[in-house]
Amino acid sequence: MGTEGRTALVTGASSGIGAATVRSLASAGFEVVAAARRLERFEELAREVGGRALRLDVTDPESVTQLAEELPDLDVLVNNAGGAVGFETVGNADEEHWRRMYETNVMGVMRVTKALMPALERSGDAYIVVVGSVSGVEVYPRGGGYTAAKHAAHAVSRTLRLELLGKPIRVTEIAPGLVETEFSLVRFEGDAEKAARVYEGTMPLTAEDVADAVAYVVTRPPHVDIDYVSIKPTEQATARDVYRR
Ligand SMILES: NC(=O)c1ccc[n+]([C@@H]2O[C@H](COP(=O)([O-])OP(=O)(O)OC[C@H]3O[C@@H](n4cnc5c(N)ncnc54)[C@H](OP(=O)(O)O)[C@@H]3O)[C@@H](O)[C@H]2O)c1
Repeated sequence: MGTEGRTALVTGASSGIGAATVRSLASAGFEVVAAARRLERFEELAREVGGRALRLDVTDPESVTQLAEELPDLDVLVNNAGGAVGFETVGNADEEHWRRMYETNVMGVMRVTKALMPALERSGDAYIVVVGSVSGVEVYPRGGGYTAAKHAAHAVSRTLRLELLGKPIRVTEIAPGLVETEFSLVRFEGDAEKAARVYEGTMPLTAEDVADAVAYVVTRPPHVDIDYVSIKPTEQATARDVYRR
């Protein structure tokens, strides 16, 4: 399928995997719409790739409605906005952290997908990508809030695949392992030392590695749906097993 004249929306485009996906989809020929809260962080990027930048908070229903009004035509939706906050055991869980993770990673995916479904239905050949995580199918100590949210996002993605069967809307979940982005800085609320330790002595994926996979998936012919992509660094076997020098 050619990409000319086709529009792709990437949420969480101000950083990491989202920003890299804006570039990879623009290189593949899509007209890209980049969206996130910190507009000033990606206006330049959108200009550079000949795309558009829109402010979006996936936790705010009004913001999502406004976004959908701006996009009557859409072919590809990349639900990437999300992340982790905190690193507590279940026994010591911070409710606000858990709520924020659920709001972005689960409710956000539902909200944006729901609002854009009419546009995707009009496309005639649409694609929904959910950037999940290895944490959508695995767990690790002190990761309960994040793994619960990503397990839920995994369930939403699988449900969409069933509900859209028979319609020309494909669904893929991309589930990365360790990717060096601002993810850990956000998780540890700005503590750069703690964030750096996550990647110490090992070689994580780059945001571009994941963005490459997104571009590959959405450029397959219309009869091909890559259901699920698990992508980890060579030095990571499971959510918990990471080789460190
Ligand atoms: N890095 C990893 O190891 C890893 C592994 C597996 C999966 N993932 C997933 O990959 C996705 C991207 O993460 P990343 O690694 O690229 O982290 P990142 O560099 O922290 O980027 C996260 C992006 O999400 C956006 N975002 C957060 N809350 C938002 C909200 N309420 N509304 C709109 N946008 C929001 C942020 O933009 P604003 O703050 O400007 O809104 C930012 O652009 C996330 O879903 C994450 O869970 C990451």
